[in-house]
Amino acid sequence: MKVIRIVAWAAVVAVAIFLLAQRFVNSQEATDRLGGDFTLTAHTGDRMSNSDFRGKYMLIYFGYSFCPDVCPLELAKMTAGLNMLEEEGYNTAPLQPLFITVDPERDTVEALASYVQDFHPSLIALTGTMEEIQDVAKKYRVYFKKRQQDGIEGYLMDHQSFIFVMGPDGDYVRLFSAKDQPSDIAAALKPVLEKARK
Ligand code: NI
Repeated sequence: MKVIRIVAWAAVVAVAIFLLAQRFVNSQEATDRLGGDFTLTAHTGDRMSNSDFRGKYMLIYFGYSFCPDVCPLELAKMTAGLNMLEEEGYNTAPLQPLFITVDPERDTVEALASYVQDFHPSLIALTGTMEEIQDVAKKYRVYFKKRQQDGIEGYLMDHQSFIFVMGPDGDYVRLFSAKDQPSDIAAALKPVLEKARK
Protein backbone atom coordinates (compact mmCIF):
# COMPACT_ATOMS: atom_id res chain seq x y z
CA MET A 1 0.00 0.00 0.00
CA LYS A 2 2.73 2.37 0.98
CA VAL A 3 4.50 1.87 -2.35
CA ILE A 4 1.30 2.61 -4.26
CA ARG A 5 0.82 5.79 -2.28
CA ILE A 6 4.37 6.94 -3.03
CA VAL A 7 3.91 6.18 -6.72
CA ALA A 8 0.62 8.07 -6.73
CA TRP A 9 2.22 11.12 -5.10
CA ALA A 10 5.15 10.96 -7.47
CA ALA A 11 2.70 11.01 -10.36
CA VAL A 12 0.87 14.03 -8.91
CA VAL A 13 4.15 15.91 -8.46
CA ALA A 14 5.27 15.02 -11.99
CA VAL A 15 2.01 16.32 -13.45
CA ALA A 16 2.26 19.52 -11.39
CA ILE A 17 5.81 20.15 -12.56
CA PHE A 18 4.77 19.48 -16.14
CA LEU A 19 1.86 21.93 -15.90
CA LEU A 20 4.02 24.63 -14.32
CA ALA A 21 6.68 24.21 -16.98
CA GLN A 22 4.02 24.37 -19.68
CA ARG A 23 2.67 27.57 -18.22
CA PHE A 24 6.12 29.15 -18.18
CA VAL A 25 6.69 28.17 -21.81
CA ASN A 26 3.28 29.60 -22.73
CA SER A 27 3.90 32.94 -21.02
CA GLN A 28 7.31 33.14 -22.69
CA GLU A 29 5.68 32.48 -26.05
CA ALA A 30 2.94 34.97 -25.22
CA THR A 31 5.35 37.91 -24.99
CA ASP A 32 7.38 36.59 -27.93
CA ARG A 33 4.28 36.80 -30.08
CA LEU A 34 3.19 40.20 -28.79
CA GLY A 35 2.97 42.76 -31.58
CA GLY A 36 2.62 42.31 -35.30
CA ASP A 37 1.88 44.07 -38.55
CA PHE A 38 -0.17 47.22 -38.76
CA THR A 39 -0.91 49.89 -41.34
CA LEU A 40 -2.53 53.01 -39.96
CA THR A 41 -2.94 56.70 -40.78
CA ALA A 42 -0.50 59.11 -39.16
CA HIS A 43 -1.33 62.59 -37.86
CA THR A 44 0.39 63.87 -41.02
CA GLY A 45 -2.21 62.07 -43.14
CA ASP A 46 0.34 59.53 -44.42
CA ARG A 47 -0.35 55.81 -44.26
CA MET A 48 2.35 54.17 -42.12
CA SER A 49 3.19 50.54 -41.37
CA ASN A 50 5.29 48.85 -38.74
CA SER A 51 7.78 48.09 -41.53
CA ASP A 52 8.41 51.85 -41.88
CA PHE A 53 10.01 51.71 -38.42
CA ARG A 54 12.25 48.71 -39.08
CA GLY A 55 15.65 49.24 -37.53
CA LYS A 56 14.26 51.50 -34.85
CA TYR A 57 12.99 50.81 -31.38
CA MET A 58 9.28 51.57 -31.31
CA LEU A 59 7.83 52.93 -28.07
CA ILE A 60 4.13 52.29 -28.51
CA TYR A 61 1.41 53.74 -26.32
CA PHE A 62 -2.29 53.04 -26.87
CA GLY A 63 -4.71 55.72 -25.67
CA TYR A 64 -6.91 58.56 -26.86
CA SER A 65 -6.54 62.30 -27.05
CA PHE A 66 -9.73 63.05 -25.09
CA CYS A 67 -8.31 61.10 -22.13
CA PRO A 68 -8.49 63.43 -19.15
CA ASP A 69 -5.66 61.96 -17.09
CA VAL A 70 -3.70 58.79 -17.79
CA CYS A 71 -2.79 59.26 -21.45
CA PRO A 72 -1.37 62.78 -21.21
CA LEU A 73 0.53 61.72 -18.10
CA GLU A 74 2.11 58.68 -19.75
CA LEU A 75 2.93 60.54 -22.97
CA ALA A 76 4.48 63.30 -20.89
CA LYS A 77 6.58 60.67 -19.10
CA MET A 78 7.74 59.21 -22.40
CA THR A 79 8.58 62.74 -23.59
CA ALA A 80 10.45 63.52 -20.37
CA GLY A 81 12.46 60.28 -20.69
CA LEU A 82 13.52 61.21 -24.24
CA ASN A 83 14.33 64.77 -23.19
CA MET A 84 16.52 63.47 -20.37
CA LEU A 85 18.50 61.35 -22.82
CA GLU A 86 18.91 64.29 -25.19
CA GLU A 87 20.07 66.53 -22.36
CA GLU A 88 22.73 63.92 -21.66
CA GLY A 89 23.89 64.23 -25.26
CA TYR A 90 22.24 61.18 -26.75
CA ASN A 91 20.75 61.21 -30.23
CA THR A 92 17.30 59.68 -29.77
CA ALA A 93 16.74 59.07 -33.49
CA PRO A 94 16.93 55.25 -33.04
CA LEU A 95 13.79 55.55 -30.89
CA GLN A 96 10.38 56.05 -32.46
CA PRO A 97 7.60 57.03 -30.06
CA LEU A 98 4.15 56.11 -31.37
CA PHE A 99 0.70 56.90 -30.05
CA ILE A 100 -2.03 54.62 -31.35
CA THR A 101 -5.55 55.83 -30.65
CA VAL A 102 -8.23 53.50 -29.32
CA ASP A 103 -10.82 56.18 -30.14
CA PRO A 104 -10.65 56.54 -33.93
CA GLU A 105 -14.15 58.03 -33.94
CA ARG A 106 -12.94 61.28 -32.36
CA ASP A 107 -9.21 60.98 -33.02
CA THR A 108 -9.15 62.15 -36.60
CA VAL A 109 -5.93 63.12 -38.38
CA GLU A 110 -6.64 66.76 -37.48
CA ALA A 111 -7.31 66.02 -33.81
CA LEU A 112 -4.08 64.03 -33.54
CA ALA A 113 -2.05 66.65 -35.44
CA SER A 114 -2.96 69.12 -32.74
CA TYR A 115 -2.52 66.63 -29.87
CA VAL A 116 1.07 65.61 -30.74
CA GLN A 117 2.23 69.21 -30.31
CA ASP A 118 2.03 68.76 -26.54
CA PHE A 119 4.68 66.02 -26.59
CA HIS A 120 8.10 65.03 -27.95
CA PRO A 121 8.59 66.33 -31.52
CA SER A 122 9.35 62.82 -32.80
CA LEU A 123 6.00 61.43 -31.60
CA ILE A 124 3.86 60.02 -34.39
CA ALA A 125 0.16 59.56 -33.62
CA LEU A 126 -1.75 56.92 -35.54
CA THR A 127 -5.43 56.43 -36.23
CA GLY A 128 -7.43 54.27 -38.60
CA THR A 129 -10.74 52.58 -39.13
CA MET A 130 -12.29 50.83 -36.12
CA GLU A 131 -11.33 47.50 -37.73
CA GLU A 132 -7.69 48.57 -38.11
CA ILE A 133 -7.55 49.77 -34.51
CA GLN A 134 -9.19 46.61 -33.18
CA ASP A 135 -6.73 44.53 -35.16
CA VAL A 136 -3.60 46.27 -33.85
CA ALA A 137 -4.95 46.40 -30.26
CA LYS A 138 -5.60 42.67 -30.43
CA LYS A 139 -2.03 42.04 -31.60
CA TYR A 140 -0.69 43.96 -28.56
CA ARG A 141 -3.42 42.51 -26.34
CA VAL A 142 -4.59 45.96 -25.35
CA TYR A 143 -8.11 46.00 -23.98
CA PHE A 144 -10.30 49.06 -24.59
CA LYS A 145 -13.98 49.84 -24.26
CA LYS A 146 -16.23 52.86 -24.62
CA ARG A 147 -17.85 54.03 -21.39
CA GLN A 148 -20.58 56.61 -20.80
CA GLN A 149 -20.28 58.56 -17.58
CA ASP A 150 -22.74 60.87 -15.89
CA GLY A 151 -21.68 64.48 -15.88
CA ILE A 152 -19.34 64.01 -18.82
CA GLU A 153 -20.41 65.02 -22.25
CA GLY A 154 -19.59 62.38 -24.83
CA TYR A 155 -17.81 59.30 -23.51
CA LEU A 156 -14.62 57.96 -21.98
CA MET A 157 -12.54 55.03 -23.17
CA ASP A 158 -11.43 52.44 -20.66
CA HIS A 159 -8.04 51.20 -21.76
CA GLN A 160 -4.86 49.60 -20.54
CA SER A 161 -1.87 51.83 -20.09
CA PHE A 162 1.52 50.45 -21.11
CA ILE A 163 4.44 51.72 -23.15
CA PHE A 164 5.55 48.77 -25.27
CA VAL A 165 9.16 48.70 -26.42
CA MET A 166 9.59 46.79 -29.67
CA GLY A 167 13.03 46.02 -31.12
CA PRO A 168 14.48 46.82 -34.56
CA ASP A 169 12.91 43.66 -36.00
CA GLY A 170 9.56 44.41 -34.42
CA ASP A 171 10.04 41.90 -31.61
CA TYR A 172 8.77 42.58 -28.12
CA VAL A 173 11.54 43.84 -25.82
CA ARG A 174 9.83 45.09 -22.65
CA LEU A 175 7.15 47.39 -21.38
CA PHE A 176 6.90 50.36 -19.05
CA SER A 177 3.92 50.71 -16.76
CA ALA A 178 2.50 53.44 -14.53
CA LYS A 179 5.15 52.83 -11.87
CA ASP A 180 8.03 53.66 -14.23
CA GLN A 181 9.31 57.21 -14.06
CA PRO A 182 11.01 59.20 -16.84
CA SER A 183 14.39 58.35 -15.28
CA ASP A 184 13.54 54.62 -15.47
CA ILE A 185 12.63 54.99 -19.13
CA ALA A 186 15.84 56.93 -19.86
CA ALA A 187 18.00 54.41 -17.96
CA ALA A 188 16.45 51.42 -19.73
CA LEU A 189 16.90 52.93 -23.20
CA LYS A 190 20.43 54.22 -22.71
CA PRO A 191 22.12 50.91 -23.66
CA VAL A 192 20.23 50.94 -26.96
CA LEU A 193 21.51 54.41 -27.80
CA GLU A 194 25.03 53.60 -26.63
CA LYS A 195 25.08 50.66 -29.03
CA ALA A 196 23.79 52.92 -31.82
CA ARG A 197 26.58 55.42 -31.17
CA LYS A 198 29.33 52.96 -32.04
NI1 NI B 1 -6.10 57.32 -21.31
